Amino acid sequence: MNRIIDTGENHQSWKNLPPLVGIASMKDAITKGFSVEETVRRLKRYHYALRRLYEIFNDHITAEPVYELKMAFSLHSHLCAEHVTALRKRVSEMREPPLGLDKIPDEDLRLVFDEILASSSTEERVTAIYGIVLPDLVAGMKRHLDETNPLTDHPSTRVLRFALLELGDMAAWGSTAIRCLCEDKAVDDDWLALIENLLARAGSIDGTQDVSDEIATAELVPMRSATPYKYDGVVKRDERFSDPYNMGVNAEIFLYNEDFDDAAKVIMMFYKRLREIDVPEMMASIIAETPDKPWDYYRDMTRQLWDEARHAMMGEIGLTSLGLDWTKIPVNHTWSMGLNTQLTPIERHAVLYFIEQGLMPKTGKRYEWEVGVASNNPLAAIVQDFDWADEVLHAHIGRDWYVSAIGDARKAVEYGDECWSNVLMGWKQWKDDGLTEHRNWWPEIYAEACEKAGIEPDPEILAYHETYESKRADLQTIPAE
Ligand SMILES: [Fe+2]
Ligand SMILES: [Fe+2]
Ligand SMILES: [Fe+2]
Repeated sequence: MNRIIDTGENHQSWKNLPPLVGIASMKDAITKGFSVEETVRRLKRYHYALRRLYEIFNDHITAEPVYELKMAFSLHSHLCAEHVTALRKRVSEMREPPLGLDKIPDEDLRLVFDEILASSSTEERVTAIYGIVLPDLVAGMKRHLDETNPLTDHPSTRVLRFALLELGDMAAWGSTAIRCLCEDKAVDDDWLALIENLLARAGSIDGTQDVSDEIATAELVPMRSATPYKYDGVVKRDERFSDPYNMGVNAEIFLYNEDFDDAAKVIMMFYKRLREIDVPEMMASIIAETPDKPWDYYRDMTRQLWDEARHAMMGEIGLTSLGLDWTKIPVNHTWSMGLNTQLTPIERHAVLYFIEQGLMPKTGKRYEWEVGVASNNPLAAIVQDFDWADEVLHAHIGRDWYVSAIGDARKAVEYGDECWSNVLMGWKQWKDDGLTEHRNWWPEIYAEACEKAGIEPDPEILAYHETYESKRADLQTIPAE
């Protein structure tokens, strides 16, 4: 009575219907598995790894210059946060109050992530994350699926299977990225060996692997994290973003000009979408510098951050679809730079909320979508449709986390307006300092788009020349410097 005498190989189901609703063979369900305690122990270790990865991705969005990497870090921080959320829920289902999800499960693992957070270059970070940590995490989760009882622990297997789907995508992107980035730039082998040895001493992320005596007694000294890590909120862009202080073309005044045709407005809307790259740059700083919120705060904010990154890429596809080279357009970073360096995290959130709730009236996102539809450009219609839907979600996220922190809806809006007005935009100063000429880039882009489309430019649209010198993006007047 205390051993398995039939492993179910000869089990017969009714008319040979798949047994156990198809989730497992009879044999696996009879012979495999480990305890709830061991399951929770492993899940907490994956949770810790994903939470640290989410943090590392987020904290390197703003100061990462390369556009493609900024976008990838935005997506990957969102994906990690989603799986953190799923794992937290699963752990909470397993007799676990108190959850202990904030406890560090392993000091060696902590050091792995501290080292990567403080790593000294993008190449290092990318190699350690996608070349070492992620494959280790994937191997651990696969081991879990292979060893657990597929029937008794079915809820965990769902969480892990979904996680593996996206972690696999991340790892695939990452292994290509390592090849692209590290071809002509070597990463410090000693440092990579430290990461590998720390992981080995932790028994891998899941903590199931044997630790050799040599590794167990090795002296593993912190390298990058020997100096405490400090978040860098100063925005960096790669060389394709020439003229990042250029505020020479006011996109909003253009869009609300009733005399201009919708097709020309589509170009300006695609530019506005691409310019949303400044929102992840700014939101990452709020997330990085706002500690001790409930987990759902970080999850929601990270989702929004990813949407904003997506909107930037919608701009990229839009401009590309018109045959335009987006790198010829000065996509300024003045907003994210100003907010990150001049305002506190809650003030930045206030400005974000003020702008986003201002997008909701008829003249905002609906209007942009109507322009997209009226332009007969199917891509513009789709882009603006989803941009609008996402921005409605963001207004909700703002209400849930920012307005609730202020406590009063009207005050929350006023405070956002006030904080925005307090951001010093050095229109003249930047010009005087030689940072930009505020060159009017519109005519050449518009002319090129017309040429590609085989139409004559409208002289009035071609002559458009309104800047941000005295009008903000919400068309409010800016006092002279
Ligand atoms: Fe946005
Ligand atoms: Fe948007
Ligand atoms: Fe938004």
